[in-house]
Amino acid sequence: MTIRNFVRLSSISLLIIMVAVLTSCGNKTGKKEINTTKSKMKISNKTFGKAGDKEIKLFELENENGMKISIINYGAIITSVIVPDRDGKFEDVVLGFDSLQGYLDGHPYFGSLVGRYGNRIAKGKFELDGEVYQLAINNGENHLHGGLKGFDKRIWTAEAFEDKNSVGVKMQYTSMDMEEGYPGTLKVLVTYFLTNENELKIDYKAVTDKACPVNLTQHSYFNFTAGKENILNHQLKIKASKYVEVDQELIPTGKLPEVKATALDFLDFHSVAERISQVPGGYDHSYVFDKEYGKYESVVEVYEPESGRFMEMFTTEPAVQLYTGNFLDGSLTGKNGINYNKHYGFCLEAQHYPDSPNQPAFPSTILRPGEEYTQTTLYKFSTK
Ligand code: GLA
Repeated sequence: MTIRNFVRLSSISLLIIMVAVLTSCGNKTGKKEINTTKSKMKISNKTFGKAGDKEIKLFELENENGMKISIINYGAIITSVIVPDRDGKFEDVVLGFDSLQGYLDGHPYFGSLVGRYGNRIAKGKFELDGEVYQLAINNGENHLHGGLKGFDKRIWTAEAFEDKNSVGVKMQYTSMDMEEGYPGTLKVLVTYFLTNENELKIDYKAVTDKACPVNLTQHSYFNFTAGKENILNHQLKIKASKYVEVDQELIPTGKLPEVKATALDFLDFHSVAERISQVPGGYDHSYVFDKEYGKYESVVEVYEPESGRFMEMFTTEPAVQLYTGNFLDGSLTGKNGINYNKHYGFCLEAQHYPDSPNQPAFPSTILRPGEEYTQTTLYKFSTK
């Protein structure tokens, strides 16, 4: 044996002895033993109720760490996201209802898959290739989140799957030509994944047979206190130096001002509470990410100090609508009998800018035959 090998072997033995000593000390001093035995990923489905004569299914996904997500094929709605706090206590961190009826009775897009166009289109009107299209009007004088019966109120075909590192559900919906006023038959495929890294990943794909605007998004309302409090103490960091300026009706003016020196600046962590009183109505703004257009990157971080819950969001989209549940008014009672008062949830809707079909300087949202719309957005949960 060479001297070098002898030294190497001795250091390895020393390391093994140190680890053994440290482990036994840990046990003696009553330190928590970390349970490394992982449970199996699970996926199941059951009937959640009926929408008309159609049976609605609830899919329950569970990963190896015990994180759970439930999804229904009505509106491709995420009905629950159950994640641990820093003490390992699992709780549901999204708003929603216990039964299908709650969703059928009307709600502000809790957990919904929004389309064809997430956000507002001014007066529901746009011109494309020389044709003027009039969409359904459902928000004052404007079109919001796909119209009167958007993707959030449609029944999707759903299929569960399991792969090496995730369980998931593939959801498909075909939107007919002129549905809610939109041209073209649009075929949409949304895949929800729950990975063993505690990630909720959403992959979107769509194809059309006529040119039309497409801007899909996920409208989950998060509350990391599991509804014990409103979301004002959550801290946010958003990698966006600019935002989309809007008028009184939340329609873009075309300007993209800097967030610097305004209450909209989340370039470093700030609590929602800190400056919300300076924002008339509360946060309901489209933040324009600093990243390169189309690049998949980490863009938002959220931390809730009481529970220690932390979430990081990644997306391919150029912007995110931060909405702090400003229109919630306590009139809806959700899961566990909680009244959803003002600011009881926040949404981080990855998307293009509002009203892009009427703003030629904004990145285009027009999908043409032969092209494929794609988006990937991921929410990764952990604790700190
Ligand atoms: C979006 C909009 C808000 C509001 C909610 C639903 O996030 O930006 O203005 O319409 O949806 O209530």
